[in-house]
Amino acid sequence: MQASFDIVASNGSYGVSVAPGLLDALLAEGGERVFIVDEFLAAPLVTAGLNPIVVVADEPAKSLDRMTDVIVAMRDRRATRDTVLVAIGGGVVQDIAAFAASIYMRGIPWIYVPTTLLSMADSCIGGKSSINVGKYKNIVGTIHPPIRVIIDPVVSLTLNVEQKAAGLCEAVKICLCHGPSTLDAYLALRPGIDADAERLSEVIALTLRSKKWFIEVDEFDRSERLLLNFGHTFGHALEAATGFAVSHGIAVGLGMLAALHLGEALDPVQVAPLHIANFRNHVSELVASVDGLDSVLARVEVPALMDAFQSDKKHRRDLFAVIIVSGEGRVERRMLPRDEASSDLIAQSFAAMIADGLSVSQTRQPGSAGEVMRIKSF
Ligand SMILES: NC(=O)c1ccc[n+]([C@@H]2O[C@H](COP(=O)([O-])OP(=O)(O)OC[C@H]3O[C@@H](n4cnc5c(N)ncnc54)[C@H](O)[C@@H]3O)[C@@H](O)[C@H]2O)c1
Ligand SMILES: [Zn+2]
Repeated sequence: MQASFDIVASNGSYGVSVAPGLLDALLAEGGERVFIVDEFLAAPLVTAGLNPIVVVADEPAKSLDRMTDVIVAMRDRRATRDTVLVAIGGGVVQDIAAFAASIYMRGIPWIYVPTTLLSMADSCIGGKSSINVGKYKNIVGTIHPPIRVIIDPVVSLTLNVEQKAAGLCEAVKICLCHGPSTLDAYLALRPGIDADAERLSEVIALTLRSKKWFIEVDEFDRSERLLLNFGHTFGHALEAATGFAVSHGIAVGLGMLAALHLGEALDPVQVAPLHIANFRNHVSELVASVDGLDSVLARVEVPALMDAFQSDKKHRRDLFAVIIVSGEGRVERRMLPRDEASSDLIAQSFAAMIADGLSVSQTRQPGSAGEVMRIKSF
């Protein structure tokens, strides 16, 4: 199956293609190109004599200081204003390439080939770059959309279980936000960490088409697109309170479970809608596949989560901005008074999230998820 569609944005439209085998086809194309690639995927490009710029994908790599090396490496490879920069990697390589392409000789075109499931199903569209400066993460950036996004899910098969689960947490979030029928269509594809490249192609295409709707209807993040922050305020608090021992996508998965609890407290119903029950089961399964999560959750404390939650920039001085699922099963943004009653409900939602996370990770069968990566300790 090959899916192709365009993303329409005010500063440039671009095509997205999803199918197994597209990376090999791209590498075989000619033209004036300079490659920048994640170290993990560099070998075939080096063997093919493409002389790629190789990046070790860690946070220091996407710092403003390191941009000098990237720009010099592009110039050493004789990049001109007509050169296309081809970036192959996850979000780190995406940020470096988008930023470098936006400033090199005042801007050159670039093609993006995402290689993590998270970047394939979520971050590859949007056109933003974010670069770290000193101790500040993602503090500077530009908006410079690629001219093409090429997604080859075969590339994602080498990711570890946690990275696959993290990508699917963001994917299912987008589908739920788009509406109950999109969530049903997503779940009907039976997505999971052991999905093959064909199945992943369908999951990614459905997810990106749903995200496209949000980007096009609300390009500047003012209304509908804010819903895509579902699970994120809770999730960011979990990342911060555990010193980033929980990866972003998994923290969002757990954050969505917290948000479901808050929604139930604000909008009590006798029985949750079926699609929400299915959503909760799927997210729980994804979270349960991460080895070692129970020991991290056993040590995290609700007051530390509350501190991090309260310092989120999305809140107003007198109001908490929360995204919840209503009694009818729709994702909604609500403003809650910043008082003791709201704080109690949020604290209870965090406590319920920890209990959920502990119960699902303790029921997992060790090794059942295939290759398992131990979560970082903190
Ligand atoms: N520009 C944006 O719109 C945007 C959006 C969200 C996140 N981000 C940024 O993206 C970064 C996170 O990106 P990410 O989670 O996609 O991954 P990443 O780029 O941080 O890579 C994570 C690890 O996966 C490895 N890897 C990459 N592809 C692989 C593959 N196919 N098989 C095996 N290993 C592979 C990398 O070598 C690295 O060790 C953060 O810096 C975040 O700030 C950017
Ligand atoms: Zn996210």
